[in-house]
Amino acid sequence: MVTFTVNNAPVDLDVDQDKPLLWVLREDLGILGPKYGCGVAQCGACRVLVNGVSVPSCVTFAGDLEGAEVVTIEGLAEPDGTLSVVQQAWIDEQVPQCGFCQPGFIIAATALLASNPNPSDAEIDEEISNICRCGTYPRIRRAIHRAAAALSET
Ligand code: FES
Ligand code: FES
Repeated sequence: MVTFTVNNAPVDLDVDQDKPLLWVLREDLGILGPKYGCGVAQCGACRVLVNGVSVPSCVTFAGDLEGAEVVTIEGLAEPDGTLSVVQQAWIDEQVPQCGFCQPGFIIAATALLASNPNPSDAEIDEEISNICRCGTYPRIRRAIHRAAAALSET
């Protein structure tokens, strides 16, 4: 049994301790924003926030989640549906192409901006190791700069 929260909702699950969080989210909870890409902590498509830290959910295990606060792409907007600043910047910059990798990037960008409110392009490249096969990196950088500017005004 493991007890934690996902997107502010309490979760109490009887699952194997070594079941990856990505499968807990997708199979047990029906939360489909985090995607399976590589399964070995390389691509970032599965990233979620655990206690505010961006982690690859494919290599984070149920047994490590006791008492944790998990936030997925589905949990970033306000309860009334207002998008987070980062989500809105993604729309304003028309970042996604196929979209598969984007939840992981938005999670990674959200975590980056929480620790570094005004990252340079070099810092973005260094801190966000996610992979986008469509090559949306220039727009991702622009969206992060846009979000940083918006957050600095709040
Ligand atoms: S699926 Fe988790 S990092 Fe690629
Ligand atoms: S938008 Fe297609 S993989 Fe990134």
